[in-house]
Amino acid sequence: MQNLARRWQRTGTPVALVPTMGYLHQGHVCLIGKARKYAGRNGKGVVSIYVNPTQFGPNEDLANYPRDLKRDKKLCGAEGTDILFAPDTRQMYPAKFSTWVTEETLARGMEGAARPAHFRGVTTVVAKLFHLILPDAAIFGAKDFQQSAIIRRMVRDLNFPVKIIVAPTVREKDGLAMSSRNKYLTP
Ligand code: PAF
Repeated sequence: MQNLARRWQRTGTPVALVPTMGYLHQGHVCLIGKARKYAGRNGKGVVSIYVNPTQFGPNEDLANYPRDLKRDKKLCGAEGTDILFAPDTRQMYPAKFSTWVTEETLARGMEGAARPAHFRGVTTVVAKLFHLILPDAAIFGAKDFQQSAIIRRMVRDLNFPVKIIVAPTVREKDGLAMSSRNKYLTP
């Protein structure tokens, strides 16, 4: 992925990334559309799908997190994604992995208070994705409000040359924000 991204960089090809954990829904489709628009006709729209274990706490839903790579692949193809990057954990976290990216102010409260290692996992994996894919822009959903604020802060503090675009929340007819985890809910 990084070799390909470096080739794009050498030819001045704009790259827009949508980082996801898969089980894509209409909210993701909207983010993918924004990436497509940002990249333009000559650029590349990349979607990453990776259920990142380091952002799940010990009693959370890592094992049961909904997954359907086959369906996600089809959807990305239909939405004009150029590259679907779906690494596995051996690639993302090699043995003796011991380097982390932590944001130390915004990540303390709200969701961070209830899930102490969650945002450290998010910032670490997003930093890795930025290094692997070298995007000019990355698109996140406003639904994860605290996450997008923390990612903006990380990008500013660590000088990532990545424009962060936050897209409005997409909702079901009854107002529920779309989320892969809605699969857990009964009507
Ligand atoms: O918002 C998500 O789906 C995840 O937290 C992200 C940004 C893909 C990192 O794993």
